[in-house]
Amino acid sequence: MSEPVVLNTIAELRRHLTQWRARRQTVALVPTMGALHDGHISLGRIAQQRADHVVYTIFVNPTQFAPTEDLSAYPRTFEADRAKIAALGADAIFAPTPDVMYPAAFATTISLTGPAIADLEDRFRPTHFAGVATIVAKLLIQAMPDLAVFGEKDFQQLAVIRQLTQDLDLPITIAGGPTLREADGLAMSSRNVYLSTEERAIAPLLQRVLSEAAAAITAGEDAQGALTYGRDRIVQSGFTLDYLEWRDALTLGAPSRDKASRLLVAARIGKTRLIDNVGVAGGEKV
Ligand code: PAF
Repeated sequence: MSEPVVLNTIAELRRHLTQWRARRQTVALVPTMGALHDGHISLGRIAQQRADHVVYTIFVNPTQFAPTEDLSAYPRTFEADRAKIAALGADAIFAPTPDVMYPAAFATTISLTGPAIADLEDRFRPTHFAGVATIVAKLLIQAMPDLAVFGEKDFQQLAVIRQLTQDLDLPITIAGGPTLREADGLAMSSRNVYLSTEERAIAPLLQRVLSEAAAAITAGEDAQGALTYGRDRIVQSGFTLDYLEWRDALTLGAPSRDKASRLLVAARIGKTRLIDNVGVAGGEKV
């Protein structure tokens, strides 16, 4: 097991990448906020298959949290994260401090339309994607990797990042990694640690509702009926439902059965907000 080098400044990151580029070796970036679980490690495996070197970034980005959200409570587990990245055999960890990413005079934020304004996450977290897009753009520009890998669990985030990479002409391939699930179907998430034992037992219902609604829509049943039934089940199980929607997988606009589409859910249980999504069979894959 080789230890990944830990880089804390942009200059260190760039020095390291320059050596690899001089040897014409390719680089994949796996941006994270740490608290790594198997889902994050699976993104690193995708990165390893497609590039010579893999760099994880670990940075809990303050600008994507609203003042009411869990920034201070967000799990920070650097030593455990480092051990997991070492076991995977990734090359480096870029772990800047907030003042490296946001120096005192910082004054730029990316403004978004398109998939960032889809009446999904943006309805409940109106400032979130500006923070995500700004930090992801900075990380991509700092590292200029050949490839960057993001989880499909944050499906709207992935669409926003694809759009920003295209719109800013960044010559970087964006890859999506499938959602990893616990044995009972719950999507892996760093926020699952917030769930009480009772909430943890209820949480997998979201995935069951998604797969049943996806199967019903695929079978040609009335989509609105399937969504209404799914929404009722989620609420009756004790969640506060933010949304359960069926959308086009590329634009996140209105879906159709002959194009790739996705069912997306967000719901709160106790203090924890969970999101998940599944593909609906039919149409082209995204
Ligand atoms: O998905 C995440 O962990 C974060 O939103 C990201 C992409 C690392 C940006 O902070």
